[in-house]
Amino acid sequence: MEMEAFSFLGQLGASREYTMADYVQIFDTTLRDGEQSPGASLSQPEKLEIALQLERLGVDVIEAGFPISSPGDFKAVQEVCAVIRNTTVCGLTRAVLKDIDVAADALKGAVRPRIHTGLGVSDSHLQHKLKMTRDQAMERGIAAVKHARQYVDDVEYFLEDSGRADPDYLCRVIEAVIDAGATVINIPDTTGYSTPEEYGALIGGVMNRVPNIDRAIVSVHCHNDLGMATANSLAGVRNGARQVECTLNGIGERAGNTSLEEVVMALKTRRDTFGVETRINTPEIYKTSRMVSRLTGIVVQPNKAIVGANAFAHSSGIHQDGVLKERTTYEIIDPHDVGIPSSSIVLTARSGRHALAHRLGELGYTLPEGELDAVYQRFLAVADRKKTVHDDDLLELVDEQLHRRDAHFELVWCQFASSMSDDAVPMAAVRVKSVGGVVTKTATGDGAIDAAYKAIAKLPGAKVELEDYRLQSLSGGTDAMARVTVRVNKDGIKASGHGSHTDILVASTKAYLDGINKVLYITEQRELASNEP
Ligand code: KIV
Ligand code: ZN
Repeated sequence: MEMEAFSFLGQLGASREYTMADYVQIFDTTLRDGEQSPGASLSQPEKLEIALQLERLGVDVIEAGFPISSPGDFKAVQEVCAVIRNTTVCGLTRAVLKDIDVAADALKGAVRPRIHTGLGVSDSHLQHKLKMTRDQAMERGIAAVKHARQYVDDVEYFLEDSGRADPDYLCRVIEAVIDAGATVINIPDTTGYSTPEEYGALIGGVMNRVPNIDRAIVSVHCHNDLGMATANSLAGVRNGARQVECTLNGIGERAGNTSLEEVVMALKTRRDTFGVETRINTPEIYKTSRMVSRLTGIVVQPNKAIVGANAFAHSSGIHQDGVLKERTTYEIIDPHDVGIPSSSIVLTARSGRHALAHRLGELGYTLPEGELDAVYQRFLAVADRKKTVHDDDLLELVDEQLHRRDAHFELVWCQFASSMSDDAVPMAAVRVKSVGGVVTKTATGDGAIDAAYKAIAKLPGAKVELEDYRLQSLSGGTDAMARVTVRVNKDGIKASGHGSHTDILVASTKAYLDGINKVLYITEQRELASNEP
C-alpha cells in the first residue's frame, strides 16, 4: 500500500469510522520531557506533588522520569509509583538492556507500570548519533522490546525523529516491534520539523500500511520548534492516533512539547469535527498549570492559549459590550470549564474567615482548619496593605502555606536601605530562624537585593550561586503582589525558590531562602539515599 497525503476532511472518512465512544489517551510527560526544559529541574517532593495533581486532572499515563539518568530520577519514579493508584506510570529508557533493568526496578511498586523504550529511525540519527545501520537499529529495538516485556505487559516503543525518517523503514520497524510485543507505538516529531499535513499523512500511512497496527495504540509526540506541535498532534489524532503525549503549559526541550491544555480543549471544544473524547477533568486544568509554572519557575506567557492571564480577558470596548450581553459572542470556552473562576465577591481586610474559605473553595482548595487559619492570618496581613485581594494573590498565599515544609531557614524579618545617590551604600539586614536559633546578618551590596543575598550567604550552609532571578507582578496596581522566582545552585544541586509579597525586596529575600531550603532538602535526601543499604 502506498502512503497517501490525505486532506484532513478526506481522512476523516478515509481511514476509519469515528464514533462518540472514540477516546484519546492523554500521556503526560511534564515530569520527563517537560523537566528537560532549560532550568526546570524539580525536586522529588515537587515531582510527587505534580504527579498527584496529574492524577486528579485525569491523565491516562504519567511519564515520571528517565530512571537510569540519575539517582534522583530513579527515586522520583519510585516515589510516584508508590502514591499513584489509578494511572499508568511510565519510565523512559534507551534501547539498552541495562536501562530497561533499572526502569523495571524503579517501576516495581506501580499498579500499572509501563516501560517506554526506543531508538532513532531517521538516517541522520542512525548515521551521526547511533552509528548503526538500519538493520542493526531494528534488531536493537526488537531486543529491547522483548527484554522489557519480560518485566511488564505494557511496553511503549518510540521511534525517535520519525518526522524526518524514511516512511518505508519506519513502517518496517513498527511492524517488527509490535511482533516483539510492543503495545504502544510512539511516532515522535522530535525536531518539530513536520507540518500538520505531513505529520497527519505519516500517521495515516502507518495506520494503513502496517499490517499488525491493530495490535497497538499509535501515539503522537510533537515538539514545537515551528509552533505547530498542537496542530501536528491533532492531525495525528484525525488519522487514527489514540494517544497524545504532551506537557502542561507546553514546557519541554527547546521550544517545548505539545501543550496538554490546548489539545484537550481543542478536542473538547471542536468535538463536532474531531469526534473523539479524552478523560481529562478539565476544571482541574488551570490549577495544574499554575502548579507546574510555580514549581518549575517557568512563567506562562500572558497570551498563552487556555491558561494565559489574558486568555479570557476582553479589553476592547466592542468585545466587552458583546461579552456582557452574551458570553459566547467572543468566548468559545467557558472559563469555568478549565477551572478559572469568575469573581463574584471581593475580599478585603473586612472579609471573614468564612468568605475566605468560600472563595478558596471556588478556586479548588479545601484547606484543613489549621491551614485555613494560617492562610487567613497571611491574608489579613496582605489585605492591610492592599485595598482588595485578588484571586492570584490568594492562590499565592495558599501555595506558600502549603509549601512551608521542614524549612532550614525561616525569614523572621528583613530591612533594607537603598538610595539612587552614588555616595550611599545599599544595605540589608536579614533575621532568620533555624535549628541553631534566631540570628541577624547584615551586608552591603550593589543594590538592596544583592545586599540581602550577601547577608543570607553569611548563614552557615547557605552559600549558593544565584543562576536566575525573575520578577512577576500578580495583579495590577502599585500594591500588587510580586512573585519572585530564583534558581540557585549549590555544588551542582539546583533548585528553584519562590517568594511573594507586596514588597519586591521581601519577595526576593523569601525566594532566595526558599531556593536554599530546597537545595539543602535535596542534599539531605541524596545523603539519606546513599546511606541506604
Ligand atoms: O522527542 C522525542 O523523540 C522524545 C522521545 C525520547 C520519546 O522525547
Ligand atoms: Zn520529546
